[in-house]
Amino acid sequence: MPATKSRNAAASKTAARSSDAHQHDGHCCDHDHGPVCEMSIRRFKKEDFKGLQAAWKSGDIATDDTDSLRAIEKNLKERVNSYRVFVAEAQMLDAKSQRKQGESRVAGGVIVTFDGHRSFVYHLAVHVDFRGVGLGAALLKTCEQQAKLWGARHLRLSARVDDSRAPARAMYGENGWAVDKTIWIYRKTLPK
Ligand SMILES: CC(C)(COP(=O)(O)OP(=O)(O)OC[C@H]1O[C@@H](n2cnc3c(N)ncnc32)[C@H](O)[C@@H]1OP(=O)(O)O)[C@@H](O)C(=O)NCCC(=O)NCCS
Repeated sequence: MPATKSRNAAASKTAARSSDAHQHDGHCCDHDHGPVCEMSIRRFKKEDFKGLQAAWKSGDIATDDTDSLRAIEKNLKERVNSYRVFVAEAQMLDAKSQRKQGESRVAGGVIVTFDGHRSFVYHLAVHVDFRGVGLGAALLKTCEQQAKLWGARHLRLSARVDDSRAPARAMYGENGWAVDKTIWIYRKTLPK
């Protein structure tokens, strides 16, 4: 059941105080009806992989073998100061009683990297069951905080131009991201 559309209060709640921007805890807030879920943004652990994959699949994120658990773990180990994976863990609350419903689960995730100059945001997705309650904006904000901690001032991401990315475009715009019409993205795939 996709959650109802609402504004997010959690994203700006807690500023990171260490070299990791993973300290968001709070409610997925709906101003009309009270919190609709509890959420925290934290660093990826290997047990999160299935949930992360499910969120990516749900968001139609194009993944390949560089997104395997093995590849992620290798990057996390070798690129300690330039690669992070964050997940949103969430648990729905009953709208009336505010009682917890079901299990807390990984509902979304994102990758953020730093190349010494720019930070790049990749694979941001929230599972369809948890959309519209602030997790996407919280994940994006976490990437921005992480980039700042790394010393990056410029952030980039690429997004498909089709309608499936309309919510993402709105989210980026609302969070101060602008489309750069002066550059093209070039691609090339090297043979294995
Ligand atoms: C884009 C995505 C990550 C947003 O996650 P989310 O948790 O649903 O977003 P939030 O609840 O945090 O909302 C943040 C903002 O996104 C925009 N937004 C979210 N859902 C929207 C919708 N259905 N229609 C229009 N705008 C929407 C709004 O600007 C919203 O801000 P608001 O609540 O102040 O209006 C999610 O829709 C998703 O996973 N989509 C598929 C994958 C994808 O497009 N990833 C981006 C790749 S570039």
